[in-house]
Amino acid sequence: MNYKVTVKDKETVVDVAMGKTILESALAQGVEYPHGCKSGNCGACKSILHSGEVEMSPYSDYALTGEEKNRGLILACRSVPLSDCEISLVDDDEAVVHAGRRLVCEVVELEQATHDTQIVRLKINVGGPYDFSAGQYAAVTFGNLPPRDYSMASAPSDDFLEFHVRLVPGGAVSSYVLENLKVGDLVRAQGPFGTAYYRENHRGPIIAAAGGSGLAPVKSILNTAFAKGAEQPITLYFGVRDERDLYLEDYFRELAASHDNFSFIPILSEATSKTDRRTGFLADAIAEDFKDLDGFKAYLAGPPIMVESTVDKLKGLGIQRSDCHADAFYTEADKKKLEKQV
Ligand SMILES: Cc1cc2nc3c(=O)[nH]c(=O)nc-3n(C[C@H](O)[C@H](O)[C@H](O)COP(=O)(O)OP(=O)(O)OC[C@H]3O[C@@H](n4cnc5c(N)ncnc54)[C@H](O)[C@@H]3O)c2cc1C
Ligand code: FES
Repeated sequence: MNYKVTVKDKETVVDVAMGKTILESALAQGVEYPHGCKSGNCGACKSILHSGEVEMSPYSDYALTGEEKNRGLILACRSVPLSDCEISLVDDDEAVVHAGRRLVCEVVELEQATHDTQIVRLKINVGGPYDFSAGQYAAVTFGNLPPRDYSMASAPSDDFLEFHVRLVPGGAVSSYVLENLKVGDLVRAQGPFGTAYYRENHRGPIIAAAGGSGLAPVKSILNTAFAKGAEQPITLYFGVRDERDLYLEDYFRELAASHDNFSFIPILSEATSKTDRRTGFLADAIAEDFKDLDGFKAYLAGPPIMVESTVDKLKGLGIQRSDCHADAFYTEADKKKLEKQV
């Protein structure tokens, strides 16, 4: 038996077979529904349930808070209808949908950014042009390995794609990229995905918080903001463990030197030697510098623990949750852990 799910904003009815989720059915029927992780981790598919009943499989609190659930919000990727339903997307006056592309690319440059982070630059051979919004990500396939999500560090206007891949100990794809990937190799990419993209209509101050290779989407966002003439104060906090984990420092110092409205603040959380740099956690540094974030927007990316704790701290400082645009870099193991939770 199929249920009918009416997506009000799209004036579309999706047929959902018993046991299937709204998102998988919508995508299978060619409906361009916003999504990211498809596993209840990112919140990109958050929707309003106006009528009907759904059952949601486990998801992270970060993707949908208890308060949001009580207000009738659901995650389309976790929601299996139990009746006909009416839903709509969560309002976002700058919602973007780009045509999905399958690209075949070639590695044109590899740069060892730190002891465990590789910058990979690709040119698109087949499947372009590739439209995306700064801050989005792609599912990237290296060699014969399974696809993994990586955020574009290049700006949409660049004529190459750049990714920053950080080694996850024991990780299949990241270790391949660090150890085996060569210039000239072919790489497949599918995308774009994600909703943590740059909102260019926002005129208020901006905080960007990047942990490790979370610098990738933030770089794309900042370059896009400056290219579009952003004049509001923008502060980038770049959190890493120790001195050896910092990269692109000169790049962002130069950006700060050429933009009076931009400040760049590296922070070490586990400095092993005496340092003049700021130390501690990103969230605490932001709280030291700002007492009231009402009217700010924040862009965050990096390890889930850093993203989630920083979003919590920012909310405590008065920022609206809807003004926090965050990508937590969940690994496949994180996603599996969530699947096991009941
Ligand atoms: C939206 C998004 C954007 C992202 N952007 C970036 C980015 O720009 N840069 C970046 O560096 N990363 C990014 N990531 C993370 C990236 O997608 C990968 O998860 C990361 O590179 C690790 O992949 P891997 O194949 O090396 O590790 P995996 O092989 O997936 O392993 C990950 C961890 O799980 C453990 N593990 C593996 N298999 C199992 C198992 N069966 N059971 C239990 N544990 C297991 C491994 O030991 C390892 O610790 C992003 C993630 C998301 C969701
Ligand atoms: S796509 Fe549904 S929470 Fe990520």
